[in-house]
Amino acid sequence: MNRPKIYITRLIPQFGIDLLKATCDVEINPHDRPLTRQELLAQIKGRDGIVTMLTDKVDAEFLDAAAGVKGVANFAVGFDNMDVKEATKRGVPLSNTPGVLTNATAEMAWALLFAVCRRVVESDGVMRAGQWPGWAPLQFIGGDVTGKTLGIVGAGRIGAAMARKSRGFDMPVLYCDADQNEKLEQELDAKKVEFEELLAASDFISVHVPLLPETRHLFGAKQFKMMKKTAYLINTSRGPVINEAELVDALKNGDIAGAGLDVYEFEPKMVDGLKDLNNVVVAPHTGSASVSAREGMSRLVAENILAMVAGTPAPTCLNPEIYKK
Ligand SMILES: NC(=O)c1ccc[n+]([C@@H]2O[C@H](COP(=O)([O-])OP(=O)(O)OC[C@H]3O[C@@H](n4cnc5c(N)ncnc54)[C@H](O)[C@@H]3O)[C@@H](O)[C@H]2O)c1
Repeated sequence: MNRPKIYITRLIPQFGIDLLKATCDVEINPHDRPLTRQELLAQIKGRDGIVTMLTDKVDAEFLDAAAGVKGVANFAVGFDNMDVKEATKRGVPLSNTPGVLTNATAEMAWALLFAVCRRVVESDGVMRAGQWPGWAPLQFIGGDVTGKTLGIVGAGRIGAAMARKSRGFDMPVLYCDADQNEKLEQELDAKKVEFEELLAASDFISVHVPLLPETRHLFGAKQFKMMKKTAYLINTSRGPVINEAELVDALKNGDIAGAGLDVYEFEPKMVDGLKDLNNVVVAPHTGSASVSAREGMSRLVAENILAMVAGTPAPTCLNPEIYKK
């Protein structure tokens, strides 16, 4: 029997590769960089299954080039790089990696929250430069966390995990979401509010919505002006949810106190001026970059691909309706 041909567009942790290699022929992008569009379209030809990254656009052109593919598994929970409608029309299953990276990403949001609020990176720079003159009562004073209000925008898996981890800091939790999260309300006494109320009342706002047409530029100059001047914005969702140029202005003008960012509107670039600000901490889209999360993602993409090439429902399929046809 012919072994299914699988292509992986970027080296992933070994566990999933081994799982696939047991029954499939696996080829992996040999470069330590995303493939160019031309390279990608050439490599995916004639494959039975393809593992993609958030940097690969899975659209009509991709699906044309990969004609005959039995499924595409995204190595990410966010799937704004995939045209789900187009794949569904063609009967091609798509999958993502929900759940396995929830805690890692929420932990990253907390890491950014503390780093920006207590000025960890800024003061680390002073230490390394040998510029610390010694302890002083007015040095590097930052914001408080305990007892402050945490606003969660998008209380799904990661947003709820972020909220749960606030318990040790006695933080009242507000959230806004298209859906009601009754579990979170019971567990934390979290209160569902309108977006505008959350903006005005929160000391920390952590963003966890997917990138959709309606969440693009959810935050811009108008929203920053509605926030407290002492508030911090944390974004581990997707860059375009925030108008980054307007964020730079808000941080410069003191409309908000600071921001912790893991994602950028024009990745891998940052807009002009962002890196020059002391009141922002910037991480290179490493929200899911923990050992267990990346291993879990690797296992889950492999399990999805194995199901897809076998013609059985993929465990975390994004368009399960195709199996009902
Ligand atoms: N930085 C990283 O490395 C990293 C890692 C994992 C996930 N992410 C991002 O985090 C996002 C969330 O992941 P998740 O697993 O929690 O997804 P999820 O689907 O469990 O949660 C998203 C929540 O947002 C809500 N929502 C959707 N549109 C909304 C709107 N307009 N207003 C308010 N709420 C809205 C949904 O109802 C849902 O509850 C992903 O889509 C991805 O883009 C980033």
